[in-house]
Amino acid sequence: MDSAEVEASKMYISYNNIHQLCQESADKIKAFKPDLIIAIGGGGFIPARMLRTFLKEPGQSNVRIMAIILSLYEDIGTVGSQVEAVGTKVVRTQWIDYAQSQVDLVGKNILIIDEVDDTRTTLHYAVSELKKDVVEQSLAKGVDPASTKFGIFVLHDKVKPKRADLPDEIMKTGNYFAARTVPDCWIAYPWESTDIVYHTKRAMEQGNDVFIASTTI
Ligand code: G4P
Ligand code: MG
Repeated sequence: MDSAEVEASKMYISYNNIHQLCQESADKIKAFKPDLIIAIGGGGFIPARMLRTFLKEPGQSNVRIMAIILSLYEDIGTVGSQVEAVGTKVVRTQWIDYAQSQVDLVGKNILIIDEVDDTRTTLHYAVSELKKDVVEQSLAKGVDPASTKFGIFVLHDKVKPKRADLPDEIMKTGNYFAARTVPDCWIAYPWESTDIVYHTKRAMEQGNDVFIASTTI
């Protein structure tokens, strides 16, 4: 592919589009009744904040957002002069400070948010590590760890072979929410753009901007 073809293959997504994907998804996510949102940074931050607006119920406080940051490194192994990739390693850059935040996971419905489910490596890691915290905190309180439920919200789930799985208790219970299931292409998110005017124009051309229902005009 030349650079023009690469450019043409990107799926541009505008802020308006993301706002509406969050709104639309919130109606379904409300059935999960999240008590706590855990946003995976940086990509999960903006969707998490937008979604929270639509989860707000009158007379009830906002769902709290906690942040975790995970970094992915290609683990390169060297065999003789040959260099081969031996997998992807996830490293915690930031995790929940349970003591400082006075938050615990016991008995909660926890919604994990990221922008894209690509290889699934990050989401898998986040769920497995959070589950370890659930076990530790539940044992300390003498509560069954199964009383904590996890859900996942992503804007886009790419259809491709994943490098890691997510537990059945998320995938088979209807608690995995992807606003859109998309082919394996490169998605251009607005927060990465250095030219938001061009970005938004491309999103509009591709039909990935604001959707105005015919009944509201
Ligand atoms: P995964 O665990 O979510 O499946 O993602 P993967 O390891 O394959 O992706 C590594 C990084 O690439 C992640 O960013 C992920 O968000 C990003 N990524 C994957 N596919 C796309 C895409 O189509 N468009 C864009 N814009 N990004 C993509 P990260 O390291 O978590 O960085 P950030 O969250 O701080 O932005
Ligand atoms: Mg990310």
